[in-house]
Amino acid sequence: PRRHRLAPSILSADFARLGEEVQRVVEAGCDVIHFDVMDNHYVPNLTIGPLVCEAIRPCTKAPIDVHLMVRPVDALVPMFAKAGADIISFHPEASDHVDRTLALIRDQGCRAGLVLNPATPLHHLDHVMDRLDLILVMSVNPGFGGQSFIPSALDKIAAIRRRIDAHTERTGAEIWLEVDGGIKPSNIRAVADAGADTFVAGSAIFGARDADGGYHEVVRALRAALEE
Ligand code: DX5
Ligand code: ZN
Repeated sequence: PRRHRLAPSILSADFARLGEEVQRVVEAGCDVIHFDVMDNHYVPNLTIGPLVCEAIRPCTKAPIDVHLMVRPVDALVPMFAKAGADIISFHPEASDHVDRTLALIRDQGCRAGLVLNPATPLHHLDHVMDRLDLILVMSVNPGFGGQSFIPSALDKIAAIRRRIDAHTERTGAEIWLEVDGGIKPSNIRAVADAGADTFVAGSAIFGARDADGGYHEVVRALRAALEE
């Protein structure tokens, strides 16, 4: 069976205690810290940048997965690489030269990803599979946490899974398939069955802050749903 990774989106964390929040979700069994960067230009919201990435870097050994929802992209890549990002992904329509931006991310020592919005077609993956370490499928429109999962994402995930498997067979290269938006215990299994291996969850995980069992309990529920 495929390895499943949980990637809590710190967009829904308590920003007044961000370092502690990161440590608590990793301690609860999460694998990757998903870091949402919004610029009030590519998306209608404004969040956090390289300074905050640098500030949380010493708090955990877990990989930091930077999801850039910004336009333009390139100037931020070296800044996040220096701030300790492990993975940097961006939306292809936000870069004039997608191949160049992907190469830049690897040149800076990070793993590179492309992000597809609900209406972004798969042909953006053509000709760049060799440059990819990760494909991030949006199952909501980017900009906000707490939205509902868009069901058409499932077919898209399955189609991308087929492309990745064919690519891996041909080249031996590994590409993560991550899904972002509206994931919770009740739908994570369907997302996994469609072929995802990495699951972003913002409101589902951090929303359990004050619930019984807190982060440990919601992580247990997500893992249990995956293993059902
Ligand atoms: C949306 C962000 C997501 C978001 C996920 O633009 O990219 O990472 O925080 O939050 P939930 O899990 O609440 O949909
Ligand atoms: Zn995200």
